[in-house]
Amino acid sequence: MANRIMLNETSYHGAGAVKEIATEAKARAFQKAFICSDPDLIKFGVTKKVTDVLDSENLAYEIYSDIKANPTIENVQNGVAAFKASGADYIVAVGGGSSMDTAKAIGIIVANPEFEDVRSLEGVAPTKKPCVPIIAVPTTAGTAAEVTINYVITDVERKRKFVCVDPHDMPVVAIVDPDMMSSMPKGLTAATGMDALTHAIEGYTTKAAWEMTDMFHLKAIEIISKSLRGAVANEKEGRDGMALGQYIAGMGFSNVGLGIAHSMAHTLGAVYDTPHGVACAMMLPIVMEYNAECTGEKYREIARAMGVKGVDSMSVEEYRKAAIDAVQQLSIDVGIPTKLEAIKEEDLQFLAESAHADACAPGNPKDASVEDLKELFKKIM
Ligand SMILES: NC(=O)c1ccc[n+]([C@@H]2O[C@H](COP(=O)([O-])OP(=O)(O)OC[C@H]3O[C@@H](n4cnc5c(N)ncnc54)[C@H](O)[C@@H]3O)[C@@H](O)[C@H]2O)c1
Ligand SMILES: [Fe+2]
Repeated sequence: MANRIMLNETSYHGAGAVKEIATEAKARAFQKAFICSDPDLIKFGVTKKVTDVLDSENLAYEIYSDIKANPTIENVQNGVAAFKASGADYIVAVGGGSSMDTAKAIGIIVANPEFEDVRSLEGVAPTKKPCVPIIAVPTTAGTAAEVTINYVITDVERKRKFVCVDPHDMPVVAIVDPDMMSSMPKGLTAATGMDALTHAIEGYTTKAAWEMTDMFHLKAIEIISKSLRGAVANEKEGRDGMALGQYIAGMGFSNVGLGIAHSMAHTLGAVYDTPHGVACAMMLPIVMEYNAECTGEKYREIARAMGVKGVDSMSVEEYRKAAIDAVQQLSIDVGIPTKLEAIKEEDLQFLAESAHADACAPGNPKDASVEDLKELFKKIM
Protein backbone atom coordinates (compact mmCIF):
# COMPACT_ATOMS: atom_id res chain seq x y z
CA MET A 1 0.00 0.00 0.00
CA ALA A 2 1.19 3.52 -0.73
CA ASN A 3 2.28 5.72 2.16
CA ARG A 4 0.21 8.85 2.72
CA ILE A 5 1.50 12.16 4.08
CA MET A 6 -0.89 14.93 5.12
CA LEU A 7 0.26 18.31 6.41
CA ASN A 8 -1.16 21.83 6.72
CA GLU A 9 -1.72 23.81 3.53
CA THR A 10 0.36 26.60 5.05
CA SER A 11 2.36 26.92 8.25
CA TYR A 12 4.31 29.79 9.78
CA HIS A 13 7.19 29.34 12.18
CA GLY A 14 9.08 31.69 14.45
CA ALA A 15 8.60 34.53 16.91
CA GLY A 16 6.01 37.04 15.71
CA ALA A 17 4.29 34.56 13.38
CA VAL A 18 0.97 35.28 15.11
CA LYS A 19 0.58 38.43 12.94
CA GLU A 20 0.11 36.20 9.91
CA ILE A 21 -3.36 35.23 11.14
CA ALA A 22 -4.62 38.50 9.67
CA THR A 23 -2.77 37.92 6.39
CA GLU A 24 -4.30 34.48 6.02
CA ALA A 25 -7.83 35.44 7.12
CA LYS A 26 -7.88 38.25 4.56
CA ALA A 27 -6.30 36.20 1.77
CA ARG A 28 -8.92 33.50 2.31
CA ALA A 29 -11.75 36.07 2.51
CA PHE A 30 -12.86 34.75 5.91
CA GLN A 31 -15.52 36.97 7.50
CA LYS A 32 -15.81 36.08 11.17
CA ALA A 33 -13.66 33.96 13.46
CA PHE A 34 -14.92 31.58 16.13
CA ILE A 35 -12.04 31.53 18.60
CA CYS A 36 -11.70 28.34 20.64
CA SER A 37 -9.59 28.88 23.73
CA ASP A 38 -9.65 27.89 27.40
CA PRO A 39 -10.43 30.02 30.49
CA ASP A 40 -6.84 30.11 31.81
CA LEU A 41 -5.49 31.33 28.49
CA ILE A 42 -8.00 34.15 28.55
CA LYS A 43 -7.12 34.96 32.17
CA PHE A 44 -3.37 35.01 31.49
CA GLY A 45 -3.72 37.19 28.37
CA VAL A 46 -2.49 34.53 25.94
CA THR A 47 -5.68 34.57 23.84
CA LYS A 48 -5.40 38.38 23.75
CA LYS A 49 -2.22 38.10 21.68
CA VAL A 50 -4.46 36.74 18.92
CA THR A 51 -7.46 39.03 19.42
CA ASP A 52 -5.08 42.03 19.37
CA VAL A 53 -4.04 41.02 15.85
CA LEU A 54 -7.67 40.63 14.76
CA ASP A 55 -8.65 43.93 16.42
CA SER A 56 -5.83 45.83 14.74
CA GLU A 57 -7.08 44.66 11.35
CA ASN A 58 -10.78 45.12 12.18
CA LEU A 59 -11.47 41.42 11.75
CA ALA A 60 -14.62 40.16 13.47
CA TYR A 61 -14.58 37.35 16.02
CA GLU A 62 -16.39 35.71 18.90
CA ILE A 63 -14.73 33.75 21.71
CA TYR A 64 -15.76 30.29 22.93
CA SER A 65 -13.95 29.19 26.09
CA ASP A 66 -16.02 26.42 27.64
CA ILE A 67 -13.07 24.03 27.23
CA LYS A 68 -11.39 22.09 30.02
CA ALA A 69 -8.07 20.27 29.93
CA ASN A 70 -8.80 16.73 28.63
CA PRO A 71 -11.86 18.20 26.83
CA THR A 72 -15.23 16.48 27.08
CA ILE A 73 -18.09 15.55 24.77
CA GLU A 74 -20.07 18.33 26.45
CA ASN A 75 -17.37 20.91 25.63
CA VAL A 76 -17.71 19.88 21.98
CA GLN A 77 -21.50 19.88 21.88
CA ASN A 78 -21.77 23.28 23.57
CA GLY A 79 -19.19 24.53 21.10
CA VAL A 80 -21.19 23.29 18.12
CA ALA A 81 -24.25 25.19 19.38
CA ALA A 82 -22.17 28.32 20.02
CA PHE A 83 -20.59 28.13 16.57
CA LYS A 84 -23.99 27.86 14.89
CA ALA A 85 -25.26 30.87 16.84
CA SER A 86 -22.16 32.94 16.06
CA GLY A 87 -22.43 33.35 12.29
CA ALA A 88 -18.70 32.60 12.04
CA ASP A 89 -17.20 31.01 8.93
CA TYR A 90 -13.83 29.86 10.29
CA ILE A 91 -12.25 28.77 13.57
CA VAL A 92 -9.13 30.10 15.22
CA ALA A 93 -7.95 27.55 17.79
CA VAL A 94 -5.74 29.19 20.42
CA GLY A 95 -4.36 26.88 23.05
CA GLY A 96 -2.87 23.54 23.78
CA GLY A 97 -4.14 20.20 22.55
CA SER A 98 -7.36 20.65 24.50
CA SER A 99 -8.45 23.82 22.68
CA MET A 100 -7.21 22.61 19.30
CA ASP A 101 -8.85 19.20 19.66
CA THR A 102 -12.16 20.74 20.72
CA ALA A 103 -11.96 23.10 17.74
CA LYS A 104 -11.42 20.16 15.39
CA ALA A 105 -14.40 18.24 16.78
CA ILE A 106 -16.62 21.33 16.54
CA GLY A 107 -15.48 22.02 12.98
CA ILE A 108 -16.06 18.40 11.96
CA ILE A 109 -19.58 18.22 13.44
CA VAL A 110 -20.67 21.56 11.98
CA ALA A 111 -19.70 20.23 8.54
CA ASN A 112 -20.94 16.66 9.21
CA PRO A 113 -23.96 17.00 11.53
CA GLU A 114 -24.71 13.26 11.42
CA PHE A 115 -21.87 12.86 13.96
CA GLU A 116 -23.38 15.23 16.55
CA ASP A 117 -23.29 12.54 19.26
CA VAL A 118 -19.44 12.90 19.13
CA ARG A 119 -18.86 9.27 20.22
CA SER A 120 -19.46 8.04 16.67
CA LEU A 121 -16.32 9.91 15.59
CA GLU A 122 -14.04 7.49 17.48
CA GLY A 123 -11.35 5.76 15.43
CA VAL A 124 -11.18 6.40 11.70
CA ALA A 125 -14.32 8.51 11.30
CA PRO A 126 -16.05 8.18 7.91
CA THR A 127 -16.94 11.87 7.59
CA LYS A 128 -17.78 13.12 4.10
CA LYS A 129 -16.80 16.78 4.30
CA PRO A 130 -13.76 18.77 5.41
CA CYS A 131 -14.28 20.57 8.71
CA VAL A 132 -14.85 24.31 9.02
CA PRO A 133 -11.48 25.90 8.10
CA ILE A 134 -9.21 26.09 11.15
CA ILE A 135 -6.26 28.37 11.81
CA ALA A 136 -4.46 26.65 14.69
CA VAL A 137 -2.23 28.58 17.09
CA PRO A 138 -0.57 26.27 19.63
CA THR A 139 0.29 27.77 23.02
CA THR A 140 1.99 24.63 24.36
CA ALA A 141 4.95 22.90 22.71
CA GLY A 142 3.77 19.35 22.80
CA THR A 143 0.72 17.90 21.10
CA ALA A 144 1.32 19.26 17.57
CA ALA A 145 -2.46 19.07 17.15
CA GLU A 146 -2.02 21.99 14.71
CA VAL A 147 -0.54 19.55 12.17
CA THR A 148 -2.16 16.24 13.05
CA ILE A 149 -5.23 14.49 11.72
CA ASN A 150 -6.16 13.40 15.25
CA TYR A 151 -8.12 14.75 18.16
CA VAL A 152 -8.82 13.26 21.55
CA ILE A 153 -12.08 13.71 23.48
CA THR A 154 -13.01 12.51 26.97
CA ASP A 155 -16.19 10.53 27.56
CA VAL A 156 -16.77 11.41 31.21
CA GLU A 157 -19.67 9.00 31.62
CA ARG A 158 -17.68 5.98 30.40
CA LYS A 159 -14.37 7.18 31.89
CA ARG A 160 -12.68 6.94 28.51
CA LYS A 161 -10.66 9.20 26.29
CA PHE A 162 -11.14 8.35 22.66
CA VAL A 163 -8.98 9.18 19.68
CA CYS A 164 -10.56 10.31 16.42
CA VAL A 165 -8.51 10.01 13.25
CA ASP A 166 -9.80 12.01 10.32
CA PRO A 167 -7.92 13.79 7.51
CA HIS A 168 -10.89 16.17 7.27
CA ASP A 169 -9.83 17.83 10.53
CA MET A 170 -6.39 19.03 9.40
CA PRO A 171 -6.08 22.78 10.14
CA VAL A 172 -5.58 24.69 6.89
CA VAL A 173 -3.09 27.03 8.57
CA ALA A 174 -0.77 26.48 11.55
CA ILE A 175 0.84 29.44 13.31
CA VAL A 176 3.73 28.08 15.38
CA ASP A 177 4.95 31.08 17.32
CA PRO A 178 7.24 30.44 20.33
CA ASP A 179 6.09 33.77 21.84
CA MET A 180 2.65 32.19 22.29
CA MET A 181 4.30 29.53 24.49
CA SER A 182 6.61 31.68 26.62
CA SER A 183 4.05 32.13 29.41
CA MET A 184 3.91 28.39 30.13
CA PRO A 185 5.03 27.61 33.68
CA LYS A 186 7.91 25.17 34.19
CA GLY A 187 5.79 22.09 34.94
CA LEU A 188 3.60 22.55 31.89
CA THR A 189 6.62 23.20 29.64
CA ALA A 190 8.22 20.00 30.92
CA ALA A 191 5.10 17.85 30.58
CA THR A 192 4.10 19.06 27.12
CA GLY A 193 7.72 18.77 25.96
CA MET A 194 7.85 15.15 27.11
CA ASP A 195 4.60 14.54 25.21
CA ALA A 196 6.39 15.77 22.09
CA LEU A 197 9.37 13.48 22.77
CA THR A 198 6.94 10.58 23.23
CA HIS A 199 5.37 11.37 19.84
CA ALA A 200 8.80 11.38 18.21
CA ILE A 201 9.97 8.12 19.80
CA GLU A 202 6.69 6.22 19.44
CA GLY A 203 6.27 7.54 15.90
CA TYR A 204 9.81 6.40 15.04
CA THR A 205 9.25 2.89 16.35
CA THR A 206 5.59 2.38 15.40
CA LYS A 207 4.74 -0.43 12.95
CA ALA A 208 3.88 1.86 10.02
CA ALA A 209 7.06 4.00 10.26
CA TRP A 210 8.97 4.51 6.98
CA GLU A 211 11.88 6.57 5.65
CA MET A 212 10.09 9.90 5.42
CA THR A 213 8.54 9.74 8.88
CA ASP A 214 11.84 8.43 10.31
CA MET A 215 13.42 11.62 8.99
CA PHE A 216 10.88 13.77 10.82
CA HIS A 217 11.06 11.76 14.02
CA LEU A 218 14.84 11.59 14.32
CA LYS A 219 15.15 15.32 13.72
CA ALA A 220 12.40 15.94 16.28
CA ILE A 221 14.14 13.74 18.89
CA GLU A 222 17.38 15.66 18.29
CA ILE A 223 15.80 19.13 18.55
CA ILE A 224 13.58 18.27 21.53
CA SER A 225 16.34 16.67 23.57
CA LYS A 226 18.61 19.65 22.87
CA SER A 227 15.92 22.24 23.68
CA LEU A 228 13.65 20.99 26.45
CA ARG A 229 15.89 21.82 29.43
CA GLY A 230 16.37 25.35 28.07
CA ALA A 231 12.65 25.77 27.44
CA VAL A 232 11.89 24.77 31.03
CA ALA A 233 14.40 27.47 32.11
CA ASN A 234 12.40 29.82 29.82
CA GLU A 235 15.40 30.52 27.58
CA LYS A 236 14.62 31.82 24.10
CA GLU A 237 16.67 29.19 22.29
CA GLY A 238 14.91 26.42 24.18
CA ARG A 239 11.46 27.86 23.46
CA ASP A 240 12.27 28.28 19.76
CA GLY A 241 13.60 24.73 19.55
CA MET A 242 10.60 23.20 21.29
CA ALA A 243 8.10 25.05 19.06
CA LEU A 244 9.81 23.61 16.01
CA GLY A 245 10.68 20.17 17.39
CA GLN A 246 7.17 19.36 18.53
CA TYR A 247 5.77 20.43 15.14
CA ILE A 248 8.23 18.22 13.26
CA ALA A 249 7.23 15.29 15.49
CA GLY A 250 3.61 15.99 14.50
CA MET A 251 4.52 15.93 10.79
CA GLY A 252 5.63 12.37 11.41
CA PHE A 253 3.38 10.67 13.94
CA SER A 254 0.14 12.05 12.55
CA ASN A 255 0.84 10.05 9.41
CA VAL A 256 1.93 6.74 10.95
CA GLY A 257 0.51 6.50 14.47
CA LEU A 258 1.92 5.97 17.95
CA GLY A 259 2.04 3.14 20.49
CA ILE A 260 1.06 1.98 23.96
CA ALA A 261 2.70 4.83 25.91
CA HIS A 262 -0.10 6.88 24.39
CA SER A 263 -2.79 4.22 24.91
CA MET A 264 -1.86 4.12 28.58
CA ALA A 265 -1.60 7.91 28.85
CA HIS A 266 -5.09 8.32 27.38
CA THR A 267 -6.46 5.92 29.98
CA LEU A 268 -4.72 7.73 32.86
CA GLY A 269 -6.06 11.03 31.53
CA ALA A 270 -9.60 9.70 31.42
CA VAL A 271 -9.61 7.98 34.81
CA TYR A 272 -7.48 10.31 36.97
CA ASP A 273 -7.41 13.49 34.82
CA THR A 274 -3.61 13.13 34.74
CA PRO A 275 -2.13 15.81 32.46
CA HIS A 276 -1.41 14.14 29.13
CA GLY A 277 2.29 15.02 29.02
CA VAL A 278 2.95 13.81 32.56
CA ALA A 279 1.28 10.48 31.78
CA CYS A 280 3.29 10.11 28.56
CA ALA A 281 6.55 10.96 30.31
CA MET A 282 5.94 8.40 33.05
CA MET A 283 5.09 5.64 30.60
CA LEU A 284 7.72 6.33 27.91
CA PRO A 285 10.89 4.75 29.44
CA ILE A 286 8.86 1.81 30.76
CA VAL A 287 7.31 1.19 27.35
CA MET A 288 10.69 1.62 25.61
CA GLU A 289 12.13 -1.13 27.76
CA TYR A 290 9.14 -3.39 27.01
CA ASN A 291 9.36 -2.74 23.25
CA ALA A 292 13.16 -2.89 22.91
CA GLU A 293 13.37 -6.43 21.47
CA CYS A 294 11.08 -5.43 18.57
CA THR A 295 12.92 -2.29 17.49
CA GLY A 296 15.97 -3.58 15.56
CA GLU A 297 18.70 -0.93 15.59
CA LYS A 298 16.35 1.97 16.14
CA TYR A 299 17.39 2.65 19.72
CA ARG A 300 20.96 3.25 18.51
CA GLU A 301 19.62 6.11 16.39
CA ILE A 302 17.46 7.41 19.25
CA ALA A 303 20.52 7.44 21.54
CA ARG A 304 22.57 9.19 18.84
CA ALA A 305 19.85 11.81 18.28
CA MET A 306 19.74 12.40 22.02
CA GLY A 307 23.43 13.22 22.01
CA VAL A 308 24.83 9.97 23.46
CA LYS A 309 28.48 9.56 22.37
CA GLY A 310 30.07 6.36 21.05
CA VAL A 311 26.87 4.58 19.99
CA ASP A 312 28.58 2.92 17.01
CA SER A 313 30.84 0.86 19.25
CA MET A 314 28.04 -0.21 21.60
CA SER A 315 26.43 -3.65 21.73
CA VAL A 316 22.69 -3.98 21.16
CA GLU A 317 22.09 -4.15 24.92
CA GLU A 318 24.31 -1.12 25.51
CA TYR A 319 22.69 1.18 22.98
CA ARG A 320 19.19 0.14 23.99
CA LYS A 321 20.00 0.92 27.60
CA ALA A 322 21.66 4.19 26.56
CA ALA A 323 18.53 5.35 24.73
CA ILE A 324 16.24 4.50 27.64
CA ASP A 325 18.64 6.12 30.15
CA ALA A 326 18.80 9.31 28.08
CA VAL A 327 15.01 9.57 28.05
CA GLN A 328 14.81 8.85 31.78
CA GLN A 329 17.48 11.44 32.56
CA LEU A 330 15.75 14.14 30.52
CA SER A 331 12.48 13.40 32.29
CA ILE A 332 14.17 13.64 35.71
CA ASP A 333 16.05 16.82 34.77
CA VAL A 334 12.81 18.60 33.87
CA GLY A 335 11.13 17.45 37.07
CA ILE A 336 8.63 14.82 35.96
CA PRO A 337 7.63 12.40 38.75
CA THR A 338 8.05 8.67 38.14
CA LYS A 339 5.10 7.46 40.22
CA LEU A 340 1.37 8.17 40.04
CA GLU A 341 -0.11 7.89 43.51
CA ALA A 342 -3.70 8.00 42.27
CA ILE A 343 -3.54 4.48 40.77
CA LYS A 344 -5.28 1.83 42.84
CA GLU A 345 -4.85 -1.92 42.62
CA GLU A 346 -8.59 -2.41 41.97
CA ASP A 347 -8.44 -0.09 38.94
CA LEU A 348 -5.75 -2.10 37.14
CA GLN A 349 -8.05 -4.39 35.16
CA PHE A 350 -10.13 -1.48 33.84
CA LEU A 351 -7.01 0.56 33.04
CA ALA A 352 -5.41 -2.30 31.13
CA GLU A 353 -8.55 -3.17 29.17
CA SER A 354 -9.13 0.45 28.30
CA ALA A 355 -5.52 0.95 27.11
CA HIS A 356 -5.78 -2.29 25.12
CA ALA A 357 -8.85 -0.95 23.26
CA ASP A 358 -7.23 2.44 22.54
CA ALA A 359 -6.70 3.46 18.90
CA CYS A 360 -2.93 3.88 19.45
CA ALA A 361 -2.36 0.30 20.70
CA PRO A 362 -2.26 -1.54 17.34
CA GLY A 363 0.68 0.61 16.17
CA ASN A 364 2.93 -0.50 19.02
CA PRO A 365 5.96 -2.46 17.73
CA LYS A 366 5.20 -5.29 20.18
CA ASP A 367 1.64 -6.55 20.62
CA ALA A 368 0.70 -5.96 24.24
CA SER A 369 -1.88 -8.15 25.99
CA VAL A 370 -4.18 -6.90 28.75
CA GLU A 371 -1.93 -8.78 31.22
CA ASP A 372 1.20 -7.07 29.83
CA LEU A 373 -0.46 -3.66 30.15
CA LYS A 374 -1.41 -4.39 33.73
CA GLU A 375 2.23 -5.17 34.54
CA LEU A 376 3.35 -1.95 32.84
CA PHE A 377 0.83 0.14 34.81
CA LYS A 378 2.12 -1.47 38.03
CA LYS A 379 5.56 0.01 37.35
CA ILE A 380 4.32 3.55 37.99
CA MET A 381 2.46 2.65 41.21
N1 LIG B 1 -4.53 16.04 18.48
C1 LIG B 1 -3.45 15.37 18.76
O1 LIG B 1 -2.80 14.85 17.87
C2 LIG B 1 -3.03 15.23 20.18
C3 LIG B 1 -1.75 14.73 20.47
C4 LIG B 1 -1.38 14.61 21.79
C5 LIG B 1 -2.25 15.00 22.80
N2 LIG B 1 -3.49 15.46 22.51
C6 LIG B 1 -4.45 15.88 23.55
O2 LIG B 1 -4.19 17.22 23.91
C7 LIG B 1 -4.55 17.44 25.27
C8 LIG B 1 -3.39 18.03 26.05
O3 LIG B 1 -2.99 19.24 25.49
P1 LIG B 1 -1.78 20.09 26.10
O4 LIG B 1 -0.82 19.17 26.73
O5 LIG B 1 -1.30 20.98 25.03
O6 LIG B 1 -2.44 20.93 27.28
P2 LIG B 1 -3.89 21.58 27.44
O7 LIG B 1 -4.37 22.17 26.19
O8 LIG B 1 -4.75 20.57 28.11
O9 LIG B 1 -3.60 22.75 28.46
C9 LIG B 1 -3.24 22.46 29.81
C10 LIG B 1 -3.28 23.74 30.65
O10 LIG B 1 -2.22 24.58 30.25
C11 LIG B 1 -2.69 25.93 30.09
N3 LIG B 1 -1.86 26.59 29.07
C12 LIG B 1 -1.75 26.25 27.76
N4 LIG B 1 -0.88 27.08 27.14
C13 LIG B 1 -0.43 27.97 28.06
C14 LIG B 1 0.45 29.08 28.02
N5 LIG B 1 1.08 29.45 26.90
N6 LIG B 1 0.65 29.77 29.16
C15 LIG B 1 0.02 29.43 30.32
N7 LIG B 1 -0.82 28.37 30.43
C16 LIG B 1 -1.06 27.65 29.30
C17 LIG B 1 -4.12 25.75 29.68
O11 LIG B 1 -4.86 26.91 29.98
C18 LIG B 1 -4.56 24.54 30.48
O12 LIG B 1 -4.99 24.95 31.76
C19 LIG B 1 -4.97 16.12 25.83
O13 LIG B 1 -6.37 16.00 25.83
C20 LIG B 1 -4.34 15.12 24.85
O14 LIG B 1 -4.99 13.88 24.81
C21 LIG B 1 -3.88 15.60 21.21
FE1 LIG C 1 0.53 13.00 22.98
